[in-house]
Amino acid sequence: EFNTIEDVKTLVGTYLDFPSEGIVFRDIFPIFRNPSALDCLLNTLVKEALDFAKKASSTKIDVVVGLDARGFLFGPTLALKLNAKFVPVRKAGKLPGVTIKHSYQKEYGSDELEIQADAILKGEKVLIVDDLLATGGTCKAAEALVEKLGATVVLNQFVIELVDLKGRDILSAPIYSAIKY
Ligand code: PRP
Repeated sequence: EFNTIEDVKTLVGTYLDFPSEGIVFRDIFPIFRNPSALDCLLNTLVKEALDFAKKASSTKIDVVVGLDARGFLFGPTLALKLNAKFVPVRKAGKLPGVTIKHSYQKEYGSDELEIQADAILKGEKVLIVDDLLATGGTCKAAEALVEKLGATVVLNQFVIELVDLKGRDILSAPIYSAIKY
C-alpha cells in the first residue's frame, strides 16, 4: 500500500540518454500501473490545491488547465475533485474554433501552445497542472495564455520538479511539486 508521496516516488522510472543523449528521463507511467500509488498521488495534489486555496483568502479554483500531453492524465481528475472545469492547453494546430496562441523558446528552436478562447472567463481562478517542471518554458507559456484571457493563475502543480533546472524561477504563480529530483 502507498501511503506517502515518498512511497510513490519509488515507482518513478529513470532512463539515461532518453529521448536523446545526456537527458535523464523520469517516467511517471509506472505510478499508473498501481492504483494505490495513483490514488495517493492524486489525493496529495487535491489536498495541496485545497489547502492552498483555503490559505489564499478562501479562493475557489474555477478551472484546472492541463498541459499537452501528460498534464491531461491528471487535469480532469483534479478538476472533478475540485468541482472545477477542465481546460486543455495544446501544442498549436490541434484545437478548433477561436483560439489564442503563445510561442516560447525551447532549448533548440521554438514551440507554440494554444487554448480555446471561450474556455476560460475573465476573472476566473486557474490551477495549471503538468507531469514535469524542467526549464519552466512550457508552464510560463501556459501562464501567459491564461492571463491573455483575463484570468489569474493561482497555483502551478507538478508531479515532478527537476530542481537544478530552476524552472520555478521563471514562473509567476506559486508552485507545488509532489516529487523533487
Ligand atoms: C515535457 C513535460 C512538460 C515539459 C516540461 O513535455 O511533459 O510538459 O516538457 O519542460 P519545460 O519545463 O522545460 O518546458 P514535452 O514537451 O516533452 O511534450 P509531451 O508532454 O507532449 O511529451
